[in-house]
Amino acid sequence: MAKLLDIPRKTLVGCNLREILLHPLLKRSTKRVILRLHKEMILKRNVYYEFQDKDGKHLLVSFTYGDQMNGDFLISVKDVSEYKQIEQTALQNDKLAMLGRIAAAIAHEIRNPLTSIRGFIQLLRPYLMQLGKEEYARIILTEIDRANDIIFEFLNSSKPSAPMKKSVSINRLVQEVILLTESEALMRNCDIQLETYENEDDLMVSIDVKQIKQVILNIVKNSIDAIESLQEARRGRIDLVVRSDGQFAEITLKDNGKGMDKATLARLFDPFFTTKEAGTGLGLSVSYRIIRNHGGSIRVDSTEGSGTSFVIYLPLAE
Ligand SMILES: Nc1ncnc2c1ncn2[C@@H]1O[C@H](COP(=O)(O)OP(=O)(O)O)[C@@H](O)[C@H]1O
Ligand SMILES: [Mg+2]
Repeated sequence: MAKLLDIPRKTLVGCNLREILLHPLLKRSTKRVILRLHKEMILKRNVYYEFQDKDGKHLLVSFTYGDQMNGDFLISVKDVSEYKQIEQTALQNDKLAMLGRIAAAIAHEIRNPLTSIRGFIQLLRPYLMQLGKEEYARIILTEIDRANDIIFEFLNSSKPSAPMKKSVSINRLVQEVILLTESEALMRNCDIQLETYENEDDLMVSIDVKQIKQVILNIVKNSIDAIESLQEARRGRIDLVVRSDGQFAEITLKDNGKGMDKATLARLFDPFFTTKEAGTGLGLSVSYRIIRNHGGSIRVDSTEGSGTSFVIYLPLAE
């Protein structure tokens, strides 16, 4: 309790609630928490109260009183952050399992009609040629092939199967993704910057290159969208930083786009959750799955109106 209140133990022993509240060393923010607790527990008679402290730790306060206690209260505080995290992951896993099933079903259903369309276009081709419109057939075929590719990619990444792993330099991979998106970003008024550390040039990770590229692309595209939908004249910026903590490669992607409110943050990784008119809401849920299949994790931090940062952790290759 002394640690929680950030007051030396000696000066706390024997204090009643009033004395604690008037304690000269008590921080104002802590005092506010105690007053809130007091309201919840003593006035409203709730036996449990959960809150997050300033470091983001989840604390569960339980409160006992009764006839045998002669009007005294027993208050205990427990750090339940780890439990919370496990609970969150379990929830996410359920959603992902559902996503996998729906996606596989939809993809399968779309593939069949695409195959017959493709076949009939090929049959029509000679007639189109006679009309001098062979170009139409070519466009239709490439577009169908593209749609097929997308479905294939998606099935690939939403399947729970183990990724096809290869040892690659994470810096080089990130650079390649930047090359892919740079022109689109510039066209839509954003600069992309990559910051790497010289000695970490050969930070190796064992990954499925296609899948991880897809994840980084998804996040960068979201950033570009978030910057574009901000109706301000500020220049968009996406900063990528690659570094390591010895065990994991850490890829940070930070944008100065519109950020997210709490409700969006809470549902971000849900399959089919989107706030965009033409969004699919699949980008982040697929990305989450891919990273988890690699034994890594993703973290998000966002401030409404000023920007968002995603951090991807991937285990370093042995
Ligand atoms: N960088 C970002 N800034 C603001 N909002 C974001 C960002 N990335 C994701 N989001 C929010 O998360 C939602 C889900 O993203 P995603 O799964 O990629 O689906 P989609 O891009 O199709 O909407 C987006 O609709 C958006 O509201
Ligand atoms: Mg997206």
